[in-house]
Order: sequence, then C-alpha cells, then structure tokens
Amino acid sequence: MLFFKPYKAPIKGAVVLITGAGSGIGRLMAVEAARRGARAVIVWDLNAESGAETAGMAEAAATAPRFRSGAFTVDVTDAEAVHEAAAQTLSEYGRVDILINNAGIVTGKPVLETTDRDVQRSFEVNTIAHYRTVREFLPGMIARDRGSVVTIASAAGLVGVPRLSDYNGSKFGAVGFAQSLREELRHMGSHVHTLLYCPYYISTGMFAGVKTKFSLVLPILTPEKVATQVLDAIDKGTQFKVHPPIVRLVQILQAFPVPFMDAMVEFFGVADTMNEFTGRAGDATK
Ligand SMILES: NC(=O)c1ccc[n+]([C@@H]2O[C@H](COP(=O)([O-])OP(=O)(O)OC[C@H]3O[C@@H](n4cnc5c(N)ncnc54)[C@H](O)[C@@H]3O)[C@@H](O)[C@H]2O)c1
Repeated sequence: MLFFKPYKAPIKGAVVLITGAGSGIGRLMAVEAARRGARAVIVWDLNAESGAETAGMAEAAATAPRFRSGAFTVDVTDAEAVHEAAAQTLSEYGRVDILINNAGIVTGKPVLETTDRDVQRSFEVNTIAHYRTVREFLPGMIARDRGSVVTIASAAGLVGVPRLSDYNGSKFGAVGFAQSLREELRHMGSHVHTLLYCPYYISTGMFAGVKTKFSLVLPILTPEKVATQVLDAIDKGTQFKVHPPIVRLVQILQAFPVPFMDAMVEFFGVADTMNEFTGRAGDATK
C-alpha cells in the first residue's frame, strides 16, 4: 500500500496516558495536553508523590469541560503491575486514545562497568515496557481504527556514544520497535497513528553534566520546547521526528565508511558529551 497515511489523533478531546510523567518532559506533556483540551490525562510513574503532583498540575491547567486526571503508581518493569494498572485505567477511563511511552532511565557507565542488572533494567524500562503498554492499549485503538502510540526514544537510538552502551542498545531497541509497529499497522491497513521521537540531550536533570561542543547546531534542548514539539507532532500526524534537525545527518553518514562516520562523531564532539555526566543518582539502581 503506497503513501498510506494514518488518521490524525488530536489531543483535544483525547484520553492521554503518559508513562514516566512524574517529572521531566513527561510532566510537561501531561500539563500541556490538559491545556490543549485533552478529555483526560493519566499519569503512570514509579514515584507516587510526583505522579500525583503532575496529575494535580494537569487538573489546574485543563481546559476541557469535565476534564479528569489520575495518577497510577506503576513500575513499568513489572509485567503484572502494568497489566493490573491497564485494567484499572480502562475500567476508570473507558479507553486510551494517545499512549506516550516516555519513562526512561540511564546509567551513564562505560561498558566494562555495567552490571547485568544495569543492562537489564535499561532494556526493561526503555524498550520492553513499550511492548507491555502497547499490548494493553493498542487493541482498543485498532478496534476503533483511531489513536496514537508515541515512542519517546532518543538521538541515542540512532548513533552510538561512549558511556551509553546500555542506553544506546535499549534506545536502538525502542527505535526498532516503533518502526516495526508503524509498518505492522500500515501493512494491516490500520489508521492508528504512531510517532517516533528522537531528541538530543534535554535539560531535565536525567543527563545532568552532559556537555555539547557546538551549541548552535547541537543545543541542549529545553524540556518545554521538547514537550511542545511532541504534542505538535501528535496533532499534525507526524510519524518521525528528530531534534535538532542536524541529528538527521546521522542517517546519511551511516551510508559512508565507518572511519568517516566516527570522524564526524569526534568532530561534532558527540563522543565527549558524557565525559562529565553525573545524571540523577540512583536511577539505575531503583
Ligand atoms: N533528558 C534527556 O537528555 C533525554 C534525551 C533524549 C531522550 N530522552 C528520553 O525522554 C524520556 C523522558 O526523559 P526525562 O529527561 O524527562 O527524564 P526524567 O528522569 O525527568 O523522567 C523520567 C520519569 O520516568 C520515571 N520512571 C523511571 N523508571 C520507571 C519505571 N520503571 N516505571 C515507571 N516510571 C519510571 C521516573 O520516575 C521519572 O518520573 C526518557 O525516555 C528519556 O530516555 C531524554
């Protein structure tokens, strides 16, 4: 089927579920979705307190009549917990129109310092959880032939960076998952929309300490800008977005011999970005 386009899934009037919305861009997307007229915003996060706080912020920003928000304390690495929370979500809200798989973690360790637990946890949160939530909420979208599944991946899902082997691997996995999902839906003629979003570093604290060499072309992004961009992309029906746009160059560079690609990674300072990384202590050990 050539030039197949999924239907748009506007935020206005939608029931939106965001994983990892207790902080960072997830929180900002929750508040902005409420401001844009979402009918309900559902927050899933490991952290009960911050999740409830986001739900309250969404409530305060909401513009839709009879808006509802709710927070569920869910560890997306726990298959049973995801299944139970999904059942409760569907029984309380009836449906999920827009699912944003946003929860993510990073260890920032050189490969030889990573443990099995680090690697497993990174893949569990950053990749495997996406399969779980999609299994719960995609069937309803397919039945209605409407909806959107959003994958918050990363530029680190497109290019390898020192000290990100577990994160890179898991984000490449998320990119592969999202691409396969899009192809599968298109191939079966479903109009459910998917968005794969791959941003460069964002100043949320998750990657505290990272440095960028050329801040004009490769700026550290503000969480506000990213949250707005993701919601704009959903509203417009965009299916793949990287930010800043120069990150797209990676896909062209990959067609060249490896030493040239590596020289560009050095030149743009990407290989040094993680040198002073501190991150959020405790992320990998939760
Ligand atoms: N910050 C960046 O530089 C950057 C760059 C590219 C992509 N991203 C991606 O964007 C997404 C959001 O990042 P952020 O910067 O807002 O991070 P953040 O650390 O501010 O927020 C992540 C949220 O996920 C939650 N979370 C972590 N593990 C969880 C689990 N097992 N179950 C449920 N919730 C869990 C945390 O409690 C937190 O509220 C992540 O997927 C991240 O990989 C971030």
